Amino acid sequence: MGSQEKITIPKIMKMKEKGEKIACLTAYDWIMATLLDVSEIDLILIGDSGAMVFAGHNTTLPITVDQMVYHTQSVTRGVTRALTITDMPFLSYQVNPEDALRNAGRFLKKGGADGVKLEGGCSILETVQKLVKSGIPVMGHIGLTPQSIRVFGGYPIQGKKTGEADRLKQDAKCLEEAGAFSLVLEKIPAGLAKEITQSIAIPTIGIGAGPYCDGQILVTHDMLGLFESFKPRFVRRYAEIAQIIRQSVAQYTKEVKEGKYPSSEESY
Ligand code: KIV
Repeated sequence: MGSQEKITIPKIMKMKEKGEKIACLTAYDWIMATLLDVSEIDLILIGDSGAMVFAGHNTTLPITVDQMVYHTQSVTRGVTRALTITDMPFLSYQVNPEDALRNAGRFLKKGGADGVKLEGGCSILETVQKLVKSGIPVMGHIGLTPQSIRVFGGYPIQGKKTGEADRLKQDAKCLEEAGAFSLVLEKIPAGLAKEITQSIAIPTIGIGAGPYCDGQILVTHDMLGLFESFKPRFVRRYAEIAQIIRQSVAQYTKEVKEGKYPSSEESY
């Protein structure tokens, strides 16, 4: 077992310097957060992916600031060690930097998060600067940014064309200069992720971005086999929890109907 000491932003940044990989997963509720935390995950993202895998929407767009505050509170209540970062929902930071600051502040003040994550590169530079100057740590997110699904028309790999790759390299530089403490790279070629990782001093966290990033993140419900609706190529399933739940519930239902549950030992 490693150290039980709280993981801080400087520690996460130091891990890159030391060449230590950063392990990150998502959580939306207390019980999952406690399980991830005792298993010594470095960073828990309260992702807006909760709109899909927790609330059943088709995209991440519908989730609100209030709902993300609730998820953040539920997660941080269960965490003592991991760094906790909350995803800022669609349109909670794009309108103007003042709005972004007000909304981001709620995730720290009311939610208890250690920082926030925003999708976008050079176009959100001013907003990132404002948050960082106000004492709110920011994680960037470039490549396939799911809040832009209506622009992309789906979830295609990004950065395959030279122009796109150059823009992503520039976006990474912008976020570093604006003061972001780390950066998610989603669904881009491994070679491009390697170039970006080597070109900036802040850690990169990959999801579908190959092995050269400073850390990795997956949606917990995907890697545990709890969310089965689709499985992108980059998801490795470490368990098949949905199957276990189906089998257990079917067994319980059968035993109740057959009068086999509860037994006398399970009764008063
Ligand atoms: O919402 C999310 O879960 C994310 C990922 C990076 C996993 O943004």
